[in-house]
Amino acid sequence: MPVIAAIGAQWGDEGKGKIVDLLAEQSDVVVRFSGGDNAGHTIVNPLGKFALRLVPSGIFNSRTTCIIGNGVVINPAVLFEEMDSLNQRGVSTDNLVISDRTNLIMPYHTLLDGLEEESRGGKAIGTTRRGIGPAFSDKTARLGIRTGDLLDKKAFKERLLPILEHKNAIITKVFGADALSFDEVYNQYCQYGEKLARHIRETTLMIDEALKQGKQVLLEGAQGTLLDPDFGTYPYATSSSPLAGGSCVGAGIGPTRINAVLGVFKAYITRVGAGPMPTDLQDETGKLIRERGQEYGTVSGRARNCGWFDAVIARFSSRVNGFTGAAITNLDVLDTLPSLKICTGYKLDGETIDNFPGNIATLERCQPIYEELPGWQSPTTPIRKFEDLPQQARQYVNRLEELIGCPANLISVGSAREETIFKDPIL
Ligand code: IMP
Repeated sequence: MPVIAAIGAQWGDEGKGKIVDLLAEQSDVVVRFSGGDNAGHTIVNPLGKFALRLVPSGIFNSRTTCIIGNGVVINPAVLFEEMDSLNQRGVSTDNLVISDRTNLIMPYHTLLDGLEEESRGGKAIGTTRRGIGPAFSDKTARLGIRTGDLLDKKAFKERLLPILEHKNAIITKVFGADALSFDEVYNQYCQYGEKLARHIRETTLMIDEALKQGKQVLLEGAQGTLLDPDFGTYPYATSSSPLAGGSCVGAGIGPTRINAVLGVFKAYITRVGAGPMPTDLQDETGKLIRERGQEYGTVSGRARNCGWFDAVIARFSSRVNGFTGAAITNLDVLDTLPSLKICTGYKLDGETIDNFPGNIATLERCQPIYEELPGWQSPTTPIRKFEDLPQQARQYVNRLEELIGCPANLISVGSAREETIFKDPIL
């Protein structure tokens, strides 16, 4: 039975929350596979408006098993807050399962994220300061503490002691900040462990079992391709892989089992945090897109930079992910514009290039080359069939499909579930 991976194709915030919420309705299992509470997935459904950070977007469907996969880092305090807020609004979290292999965000990770950002001064990455980078660094340095470790308090104590000693040395000697108390951290995380215990499992077995029973599995991406530590705008990137490849590692599923890779693209492009964006619009059009699209961070409230659709990025993203289809979101945000631009190549030191450069200094010198298309200047939100879109909107979508290199399966024309055009089937 099918496995669909929904992947952010740009710099994150592509509207994956809504797309995943839609697909989750037909999914038996939804797995978050990367990132942590740096993500903020906005979902508007018949129960109201929700901003999810760690809990998979399938949580609104009581028959869906929602798995936080091994590729995610968890801050238990944030997770409990999110679970409590869902429960208070009548959404059960009984079906939430957490991989025993997820790494934990510890208090020293959030502290160090802030201290490191401040020490970078003008070269700050603009991280979400949620401890994501330090937690993934520790995972790779084999200094991480995993959710499953909390289930054995004695072993957890032995593991935490030398790690906290090492972290406190950095906190006090490098940054001149106050050391963290072992007892406080240990006791707090033991309590978290007791509360989390009933959700912790070996999740690869569960996914395998579900597939053997012919169930539908959805792999829910967080962040976007251009934030990938390998293929993103490094060092202005996050610390885990939001790519289709990352979904295999972060969920514990082999690549041969994925049937469709859905690239989620905004009909334009946005970025939050530091780092270059060639089609950035620091003008009235940029402002208009920001206001119409409500382009402010779901969690942080930070204003996002807005720009024209960048097809150099789209081609690159499609290549490194192997998209089989695309979801185009926020088409309605462009409804009032008299004309639209699409970036098809870059001018670099007098030459034309159409490949996305791997080097940040090179990218900073790239100037977008645009083609212009007419706008449609009429509301698309009430439209449900592709044929009913204004001719100019169809032309725009068809051109995006051509440039991305795969069909648009879904087109989103508003934040509500029903404000969606199902164009070509995903499978
Ligand atoms: P971190 O993931 O908090 O370490 O932040 C690293 C970079 O990724 C910063 O530029 C963040 O703004 C960006 N980032 C992290 N998560 C998201 C997201 O969910 N949407 C958009 N940008 C993100």
